[in-house]
Amino acid sequence: MARETWATRVGFILAAVGSAVGLGNLWRFPWMTAENGGSAFLVVYLAIVLLVGVPGLLAEFVIGRRTNRNPYGAFRALTDSRVWPLVGVFSVLTGVVLLSFYSVVGGWILRYTAASVTGAVGIGAVPYFADPGAFFGAVAVGPDAVVAHLVFLLLTGAVVLGGVRRGIEVGTTLMVPGVAVLLVALAVWAAGQPNAGAGYDFYLRFDPSVLAGDFLGVLGPAAGQALFTLSVGAGTMITYASYLGEDRSLPFDGATVALLNTAVGVLAGLVVFPLLFSQGIDPTAGPTAGGGPGAVFVSLAGAFSTLPAGELVAVAFFGVVSLAALSSSISMLELPVSFLVDEFGVSRPVAVGGLLVLVGVTGSATALDQSLFGVVAGPVVDTMLTLGLTAFLLFVGWVLGRDAVVEFERGAGEFARQLSTPWLLVVGVLLPVFLLFTLFTALGLPGV
Ligand code: PHE
Ligand code: NA
Repeated sequence: MARETWATRVGFILAAVGSAVGLGNLWRFPWMTAENGGSAFLVVYLAIVLLVGVPGLLAEFVIGRRTNRNPYGAFRALTDSRVWPLVGVFSVLTGVVLLSFYSVVGGWILRYTAASVTGAVGIGAVPYFADPGAFFGAVAVGPDAVVAHLVFLLLTGAVVLGGVRRGIEVGTTLMVPGVAVLLVALAVWAAGQPNAGAGYDFYLRFDPSVLAGDFLGVLGPAAGQALFTLSVGAGTMITYASYLGEDRSLPFDGATVALLNTAVGVLAGLVVFPLLFSQGIDPTAGPTAGGGPGAVFVSLAGAFSTLPAGELVAVAFFGVVSLAALSSSISMLELPVSFLVDEFGVSRPVAVGGLLVLVGVTGSATALDQSLFGVVAGPVVDTMLTLGLTAFLLFVGWVLGRDAVVEFERGAGEFARQLSTPWLLVVGVLLPVFLLFTLFTALGLPGV
């Protein structure tokens, strides 16, 4: 059977945006921003998205479109070396690890969505929605979390089962615009809430002293977050670009994806921070005071229950988060699925089924063990993405070389073509050095 391709260019862009926009923007970003000093973190993060994330995204696009293969197959096709394909194996593994914690968080969101539909969020009938202290006990870990995780995983599998065009492309074309429209509406609503100004102030007023104080401390988490949010370093973007048929401008498409993703990230902050402050919640406080990883869920569920029209808004908000999470988790699953289909010739249903069983088990482990969850969702993922991207960049810079430039320029406009050679130099030398540096600062700092 012929390998599938995207039906339209817009379909590819929306699928890639769908992968990028997700819990990284709506859950991890506000939480990391709060933990790392607000606007100072925002500035460093935006700089890294632009200077590292976008060139990295293009490196993945180039590898994927050049070969029309999954990451492992791509490295096999591009070298005779026996070592480089191991990077592809690492990629496939990263997809599985990502999905193993992401679908657990996806399960939390499904529960919050269901509770907002039934009104349980508002009336406080379910104590853990209103009691931040109990958050990780009752919602985040335990048998209920396992069940919710399995439901989210099944939804993910159902979309991927439909294939590239009828599953992923159709799904994301419906989901992504829905997320954008609802987020704008929510930001407008949030602006009208009492004390919203304090939220904007915390979020947007740049305080250089934080930066000067602990620049290295901010660097590691900011870099990890920048890669995570763009879905770069895992090989999901290699996979998505491998389904590109005709020549399109990779630089244009990459810039569009990065721009839309960043816009949604910033927009998410414009929803979350005013609401937190309108509830008198300090997002820099620890988990039991309403901050930390549970902030978005616990604090906002609390906010929705007291604000006018809050219950309706709760449904919209958690609905948005569900859609955004799903359009990302499908890209994580498609990565190992494409590997099994390309390399072993198994059918898509068999590949999806086998992976659901595997991640059903690994995800249940993270859903049952709070410390395992913390390690996987934080340092393990950050490190895997950073190492993965470093390998992709070195490969593009030193093995592909001029071939990468040709691929970069194929279908690109006049302006973008002038960027190809500087891009190759940055990708081959500067960025790998920078990424390894952030890795060492992150590993060397306690609590990062
Ligand atoms: N970018 C996604 C998000 O922000 C997460 C993701 C990371 C998806 C890596 C695919 C690969 O939620
Ligand atoms: Na998404």
